[in-house]
Amino acid sequence: VGTTAALDGCQPGDTTAPDPSPAARLPFPQDFGWGAATSAYQIEGAAKEDGRGESVWDTFSHAPGRIRNGDTGDVAADHYHRYAEDLDLMRDLGLRSYRFSISWPRIQPDGTGAANQRGLDFYRRLVDGLHERGISPMATLFHWDLPQALQNTGGWESRDVAQRFADYAAILFDALGDRVPVWLTINEPKTVVQNGYLTGHHAPGLRDPDAAYLVAHHLQLAHGLAVRALRETSSTGRIGPAFNLHPCYPADGSPAAAEAARLYDGYENRIYLDSALKGSYPEDVLADLGPDSRMVRGIRDGDLEIISAPVDLLAVQYYTPIYVTATGSTVRRWPTSEAEWQQIYPDGMYDILTRVTRDYGPIPLTVTENGLPTPDVLAADGTVEDTGRVTFLRDHLAAAHRAVTDGVPLESFHVWSLLDNFEWAEGYDQRWGLIYVDYATQRRVLKRSAHWYRQVIADNAL
Ligand code: NOJ
Repeated sequence: VGTTAALDGCQPGDTTAPDPSPAARLPFPQDFGWGAATSAYQIEGAAKEDGRGESVWDTFSHAPGRIRNGDTGDVAADHYHRYAEDLDLMRDLGLRSYRFSISWPRIQPDGTGAANQRGLDFYRRLVDGLHERGISPMATLFHWDLPQALQNTGGWESRDVAQRFADYAAILFDALGDRVPVWLTINEPKTVVQNGYLTGHHAPGLRDPDAAYLVAHHLQLAHGLAVRALRETSSTGRIGPAFNLHPCYPADGSPAAAEAARLYDGYENRIYLDSALKGSYPEDVLADLGPDSRMVRGIRDGDLEIISAPVDLLAVQYYTPIYVTATGSTVRRWPTSEAEWQQIYPDGMYDILTRVTRDYGPIPLTVTENGLPTPDVLAADGTVEDTGRVTFLRDHLAAAHRAVTDGVPLESFHVWSLLDNFEWAEGYDQRWGLIYVDYATQRRVLKRSAHWYRQVIADNAL
């Protein structure tokens, strides 16, 4: 699946196969931004330190029965205290880009008002430490940890939260705008909508379809207001949205399946892409929601102009394809990872990158997440043999390379994740990192995939 001619002869999972000869390697563009990604709540811990307020994820993870094994992000990978060690590990890997997120409740404990200096100081130390090691910082403004105080007044169902977000963003542009070259606004609005408000698996744990799409609109509005806020500063930093895009394929050749897949794609992808990059919501989705839906009623004159404020780049997160039947249900076609929602299909990376370039380009692209969970074990000899991750990343990078060869302006790629971390409702059960975290001791161990990635980066080629 998804391998290219240059990799033929290398069977999936067979990491003992000889490396392709240098001539057969897939070279990446010069200055390609090899990276890895994390997010604040998933790695930082230190939940009560230096004036941090509570977020919806503190509330949600402490509510009984919400998270596997009752795990919380209270300690996580203790990155808040171990960031210097983690920065050294990034340097050892040769990373050129590091994508992290800023915890809103560290900056504004109650979601409004003056900045908490100790919170800002942490991110300043982190960003400066990246620069000292020659790694380019990429900061996500919101990776789901909404201040609980704002949830108490309606959360993302409240239009006002979009303005609160822009104010928070302005604090960061002011404090760090001279040293963060790339900002991402909202991480995966779709996941907040679907998991937070449709299935209830994520904070705030609601099941309310009518609220869900109003939330989508407000998340998009927040994105646009933050873009405007950056433009009002003298910062030369670039900014864009971070969307998880799922290519939606018809499950069979029937016209009904094609039509169902098209509407599915509207909800999964176009609702976010079209509004941010074209200034309109897809007609088929609006018609499906209906004029009486809270979302449609919540769209005000001028909103789409704000949402489509010009951006500098588009961040794409790709994990899985979706196959849609004539009745709008979904079926599996490929093997899944430990995450039951993830089918392993590297060609989907090629499809989504070429599609966004075709439909929304030309716009610089970055892949800000790609990866999978594997059943990693720290062996007695101190190694972690995550060969499945090596195969997965190699195949997805080969697909990305093919897209670049076909003209896609991809400038960087970030593995999810740098470190094992708190995988939301799955707690610490799923391990997604290049680096193994022994949670009992907080010791970090480079997995085989990390050694492999280091070599790819050194070669600037697969
Ligand atoms: C997307 C999210 O941004 C990240 O927080 C999560 O851990 C990964 N996907 C894996 O599910």
